[in-house]
Amino acid sequence: MFRTHTCGELRMDHIGKEVVLSGWVQRSRDLGGMTFVDLRDRYGITQLAFNLEENEALCLQARKLGREFVIQIKGSVIERSSKNKQLPTGEIEIKVQELSILNASELPPFTIEDDTDGGEEIRAQYRYLDLRRKPVQHKLKLRNQVALETRNYLDQHGFMDVETPYLIKSTPEGARDFVVPSRMNPNEFYALPQSPQTFKQLLMVSGLDRYYQIVKCFRDEDLRADRQPEFTQIDCEMAFVEQEDVLQVFEGLVKHLFQKVKGFNFEGDFPRMSYEEAMRRFGSDKPDMRFGMELNDLTELVQNKGFQVFDAAEHVSAICVPGAAEYSRKQLDQLIDWVKRPQIGAKGMVYVKCLEDGSFKSSVDKFYDQQQLTQWAEQCGAHAGDLLLLLSGNLDQTRKQMNELRLHLAEQLGLRNKNDFKPVWVLDFPLLEWDEEGRRFHAMHHPFTSPKKEDLALLESDPGKVRANAYDLAMNGVELGGGSIRIHEKNLQARMFDLLGFSPEEAEEQFGFLMNAFRYGAPPHGGLAFGLDRLVATMDGSESIRDYIAFPKNNSGRDVMIDAPSPLAKEQLDELNISILTVND
Ligand code: AMO
Repeated sequence: MFRTHTCGELRMDHIGKEVVLSGWVQRSRDLGGMTFVDLRDRYGITQLAFNLEENEALCLQARKLGREFVIQIKGSVIERSSKNKQLPTGEIEIKVQELSILNASELPPFTIEDDTDGGEEIRAQYRYLDLRRKPVQHKLKLRNQVALETRNYLDQHGFMDVETPYLIKSTPEGARDFVVPSRMNPNEFYALPQSPQTFKQLLMVSGLDRYYQIVKCFRDEDLRADRQPEFTQIDCEMAFVEQEDVLQVFEGLVKHLFQKVKGFNFEGDFPRMSYEEAMRRFGSDKPDMRFGMELNDLTELVQNKGFQVFDAAEHVSAICVPGAAEYSRKQLDQLIDWVKRPQIGAKGMVYVKCLEDGSFKSSVDKFYDQQQLTQWAEQCGAHAGDLLLLLSGNLDQTRKQMNELRLHLAEQLGLRNKNDFKPVWVLDFPLLEWDEEGRRFHAMHHPFTSPKKEDLALLESDPGKVRANAYDLAMNGVELGGGSIRIHEKNLQARMFDLLGFSPEEAEEQFGFLMNAFRYGAPPHGGLAFGLDRLVATMDGSESIRDYIAFPKNNSGRDVMIDAPSPLAKEQLDELNISILTVND
């Protein structure tokens, strides 16, 4: 028997008990006649005590233990003379009688403790060691709880877990596909699914009625803190539903998860707003609702007063930063530099300080008098002590820049409280997105999303205006999930492919299987997918999803631990009928 207890289990009521423990040596301390060793496993840390006088040979053996040695000990539980209130096992220690080394360890490349001295790169390279650390294990534990409670909830609601294939046909869904060559079918490739979208729709045609899967998805896109090339979705689909049915079930899921995993209860229903409203009020389709600082349209108020920059702009937007009128010249300059960075792309920024005496001090005093500035402040709901910040330019860009500025300021002002959770359903997304470069429409969600019935007439005449039966759930500025009611009629799906620039032959070639399925009685259906990694990270108050994945990729899509991707041997390439064109840098 390797152990009678774990390293996190023993308490005062175990005093006097003979126990066997196994684990890793976290650290040891020699205090003259005593040697203490912290023994660690997934469950906690237990202090081992060796007494030089009572058992010299054993104590000397203990002194030779290096960090991360795997050991087994036998001993009795005794009360500690100096108790450690920080540790759940801190009131006891083990008086060791036998010690065996199960495996020695080389000196680890960084300290394996809650606070480590290891940099990000070295920890990624030795991820299996980083995963020994408690804060990292906590994140995987949380993920496991969320996945388990997801299964419980969906099972209770009649959803059936069905696996769908990973080796599929390349279908455009927004990002680039990862592709896999087929040895048995030379010159042909599978694609890894960006999501199980078409399969879950086929399962509805099959009459499965309620499907779910906690499933890996693969997208070859540029990476960010909340994006990984392979990530996990809680993917769901339901037959015979309208949008409201889907929103109810999945709002219920999110409430269930927060309640069971965090003990957090949301008050009332999640707020809802249209995409148009979200863009107007927040400049984002995933607004962070934990704080105000909403966008105000000042275009009409500010134009035709001789300030060329505003006169030439399509849109002028302002936010009111509470209590920031006292920002120094330097702080304002830093903010201006911040919005001018290429990532944000603003040309400049105008500010107005609302002073305590009711007057205003602005960077455009030359063009606007106190009365006009009063109107701006009123429009933005500003009070004495507040600061107005204005950006101008093209409508979409200005709103996007304002969104970035709003989030940046909220971060600076400490308004993005990690323990506060503010969900919002964003509804009525546009069906299509105009791609200026390709001079064509793309599906904003995916090509299977249904247009709103009342907008159907615009489909050919003014496609950009058509709204979709599509919805996202955003929380704290993160898009947690999204879905739509699907097209279930062959003819409408064909019209949609046509709009997206697919010839009938191309549509047949790429999506023939789905179109064919729709000929045999497809039920009305719809669904949604949450990003599990994002959901867990958001629940834990973190913006980076990487820590919540056991073996993540870095920003270049590399796994630095196993060193992937890597070249293939010539024989392997030959077998796949592939030759590499060497590109010289
Ligand atoms: P969508 O593309 O919106 O919808 O994806 C659903 C959710 O998956 C998460 N997500 C990601 N998480 C980490 N890294 C990524 N690269 C990444 N990309 C997406 C997000 C997102 O909200 N088939 C549809 C769903 C449906 O219509 O039912 C789909 O995949 O949290």
